[in-house]
Amino acid sequence: MAGQDNQVTCYLLFSLATAVIGSLQFGYNTGVINAPEQKLRSFFNNTWMERYGKAIEPGVCTIVWSVAVSVFSVGGMVGSFSVGVMADRFGRRRSMMLVNILAVIGGLLMGFSTICSSYEMIIAGRLVIGLFCGLFTGLTPMYVGEVSPTPLRGAFGTLHQLGVVVGILIAQIFGLEALLGSDKMWPLLLALTVAPAVLQCILLPFCPESPRFLLINLKQEEQARKALVRLRGSEDVSKDMQEMKEESAKMAMEKKVTIAELFRSASYRQPLLIAVMLQLSQQLSGINAVFYYSTGIFADAGVKQPIYATIGAGIVNTIFTIVSLFLVEKAGRRTLHLLGLGGMAVSALLMTVSLLLVSIPAMSYVAILAIMLFVAMFELGPGPIPWFIVAELFSQGPRPAAMAVAGCCNWTANFLVGMSFPKLVEVCGPWVFLIFTTFLILFFIFTFIKVPETKGKTFDEIARGFGGGPPPTSSSLEDPPVGGASAGVTLPASPLK
Ligand code: GLC
Repeated sequence: MAGQDNQVTCYLLFSLATAVIGSLQFGYNTGVINAPEQKLRSFFNNTWMERYGKAIEPGVCTIVWSVAVSVFSVGGMVGSFSVGVMADRFGRRRSMMLVNILAVIGGLLMGFSTICSSYEMIIAGRLVIGLFCGLFTGLTPMYVGEVSPTPLRGAFGTLHQLGVVVGILIAQIFGLEALLGSDKMWPLLLALTVAPAVLQCILLPFCPESPRFLLINLKQEEQARKALVRLRGSEDVSKDMQEMKEESAKMAMEKKVTIAELFRSASYRQPLLIAVMLQLSQQLSGINAVFYYSTGIFADAGVKQPIYATIGAGIVNTIFTIVSLFLVEKAGRRTLHLLGLGGMAVSALLMTVSLLLVSIPAMSYVAILAIMLFVAMFELGPGPIPWFIVAELFSQGPRPAAMAVAGCCNWTANFLVGMSFPKLVEVCGPWVFLIFTTFLILFFIFTFIKVPETKGKTFDEIARGFGGGPPPTSSSLEDPPVGGASAGVTLPASPLK
């Protein structure tokens, strides 16, 4: 790659950091609900007493609690699915601005729930916050992928996940009893999400709209050039412009791709399958069983201070995301994803052993080690890569629709794991992690056979790796004849290397 592409300017970093506030929000709201569980339960009870003059039944309380937890993922599914429509209609930057309104509404609903004696406000707030986070899990990776120079797209793509893990860690720390996790302060803990939303709204007007969106979607060549000049810190942006124009010319026939077309077109089948499977590999690895329930898992494994072990997991999580950020452009996406899945499978086995042998005191240390290793391996590949690789696998036309489908699959799988894990623990006992081992092995095999390397390729080169040629026009949105040259082909292990 020419040095011209490699320029990292303060303005680029500022724009990336601003976008990544959205990722931080997703992480914060994922992690925030764990610590105040008991506080929330007693709030539900108090409200019930006020209204009906008797204590809430434990079963009802658990239902209200699990709805409050999981309605977040339902919002996420809807939000992530709407991302394509929004990003194309309002642009990337304006969509991010607008979406923050949801954080303010959701945060205020939860923050005022105690004053209004309404647990319904917690549930409504979590739903709205889920919508907000679902939109950001598409908008941030899309924006980051589109403004980053090609050789650094993976490293910067990892910033989304870094934002997520830092958000989780902040939530875990703020959730401590001594900070905001106390009886009085927990509504503020939940409402705190309003602050980054306001900050991002202040900063976004100083960021550029995505040059790819300006040029390819809006045909505003001069605006796109200006944005690039500022982002790259150089007047010579001809190479970037050239590459975007080529993509734009190829797309002249099809303005944007709807979700239905994405499924119908044979040439999108391979990248779509890969995008969806990578998202599923991220969630069905069981990572959120750890992030939602780690304190309970550690307690089961005989750990004395489970809350600190949970924070330890959050710290390891952050460190290894940074490691991945530095490795991803060297080792490549495919290798790191394989390494991560393999390492997680081994850790899940180790976890099973420690739970089976829980009567031996030393096993609590093995459990801590297994969970830390599980989390570390996750962040090497399966954590960050699925989020940004979707933006890489698709060109400008189908990208928003593909992000929507992939994001929605991610959130659905997240919901399923979150909802079913407590029940699975009841049914499977110490064997529960073997379910994840099985999934991890299957996804390892899939990745090995099907996932190409995208490191250092332009979006166009990646698209050509999937059978080449321009994106389909409306007349080619049908299946090609069997054995057709351009699509539906099975990829060799690493066709883009
Ligand atoms: C990824 C996942 C998210 C998970 C997080 C943990 O961003 O999408 O569900 O909680 O990693 O670090």
